[in-house]
Amino acid sequence: MEALPDAVLRELREALRRAGYGDEIADEAESLAYGMIDAVRRPVIAWRLRKVGTPAALATLLFLHAGRLERRAASALLGPGLLPALLGAGLLADADGGVVSRFRLTPLQGLLFLHDPFEGGPETAMGPGITTVALARLLPPSPGAVLDVGCGAGTLALLAAARGARRAVGVDLSERAVALARVNARLNGLAAEFRAGDLLAPVRGERFDLLLSQPPYVVAPPGLAPTTYLHGGTRGDELALRFAAAFPEALAEGGRAALFFDLPKAAEPVHRRVRRALGGARVSLAVLTGAGPSSELSAMAYATLEDPAIGPRYAEAVLRYREHIEAVAPAGFVRALAVLERPAAGAAGFEAALEVGHFDGVDAAALSRWLAGLALVAGPEEALRAAAVRPAPGARLTVTRRLDADTPPTRALRFAEKALPRDFELSEAGEALLEALAVAGSVAEAEGLFAEACGRSPEAVRATVTGFVRDGLGRAALAPA
Ligand SMILES: C[S@@+](CC[C@H](N)C(=O)[O-])C[C@H]1O[C@@H](n2cnc3c(N)ncnc32)[C@H](O)[C@@H]1O
Repeated sequence: MEALPDAVLRELREALRRAGYGDEIADEAESLAYGMIDAVRRPVIAWRLRKVGTPAALATLLFLHAGRLERRAASALLGPGLLPALLGAGLLADADGGVVSRFRLTPLQGLLFLHDPFEGGPETAMGPGITTVALARLLPPSPGAVLDVGCGAGTLALLAAARGARRAVGVDLSERAVALARVNARLNGLAAEFRAGDLLAPVRGERFDLLLSQPPYVVAPPGLAPTTYLHGGTRGDELALRFAAAFPEALAEGGRAALFFDLPKAAEPVHRRVRRALGGARVSLAVLTGAGPSSELSAMAYATLEDPAIGPRYAEAVLRYREHIEAVAPAGFVRALAVLERPAAGAAGFEAALEVGHFDGVDAAALSRWLAGLALVAGPEEALRAAAVRPAPGARLTVTRRLDADTPPTRALRFAEKALPRDFELSEAGEALLEALAVAGSVAEAEGLFAEACGRSPEAVRATVTGFVRDGLGRAALAPA
């Protein structure tokens, strides 16, 4: 694969662009029987793509859904020169008079990523998945120096490079992943560095503005051969916590690291578990948690990677997974996005946690607003009072009145289901305070307006005002203007 000349990779990119192969057709195919295990839904997806029959649909069949194309169709799609080159390089293989792809080629955000199928065995180099896309949302529009830790096919580093990151680097324990990531850099004509090694060893002593990582976090049942991209340890979260512990040393001042992983549900909150793993590192920590995958569906999905044909090995593996999950995560899993930040010199650190309905609404802007709010909460009171604070973007003030005249109306700042901020219940006084904050140039000024509206002195309402602001910033319902 590494031997593929740049000219062939360029030709491949061009042929697929001409075919109209990209995010749109890939998402459309993905939406068919969405959420079902690939082994089960693949035949109907293939049926549909063949029926559509456009070059984009045939490319999706060949490169995303493990379909076979007749040689003539493959030649028409790729061109008569490119087809033998891809067969010669082992990217495509002959199968029953047609051709199949030995790799996946996933389009994402205008780029193409060559990677192994998920069920490719212990050395699989992982390409973009739903959780990769969740991390990609955390890339700001103009990234500084970005490090993709456990880069797999290089997706996050290359997305950063495509946005003009000052520097984009990917590291991975797997030599195969690093080799594929380098091919992907050439395939997309992007400059990013990829280095092989354990955790941060390949970038020792270097500092980055943003670290993004999706460590392997799947539970490893005894007796199943562990897969590097998948298994995180007996409990599943061991490797993720080891990754977290290593990250502070690679953060530039003001730098941020985000790790996305699953953990067993437990009485101890996730942020405490992550903080324990961090030891004495001087970093702020903010953890978003959401619903983890179901124990049954996880066992089924991971067992199909052992036996994609869903034969007898599947039947054995699924129970081995399920029993193991029962032993290490009897209450199921929680999904976490742990964000570490190295505070700027002299700034106060913070630790916070928030439960979100969905990770889809967590993007770089929403996360930055929340973290800026948390920094204000943790800082000196004068700084909080000097800041202008407003309802977070997307907030709707709702007042719900009951028909029953005796029940007082309920008020809340509400947000879209997938937004990061949480709904914020308000008292009548809270609504008045919100109005004051919305027009004031600072919390101190809002305090004056609110005091006047209540007929009290600013000193008398100070604790109420700052308490309200701290609470709202903590829940991301309010944000620094
Ligand atoms: C879940 S995959 C994520 C791949 C890619 N970042 C993505 O999001 O699509 C985890 C990656 O971590 C790598 N990995 C596992 N153990 C590692 C270690 N000790 N040091 C560095 N990378 C490691 C695996 O090889 C794999 O590529």
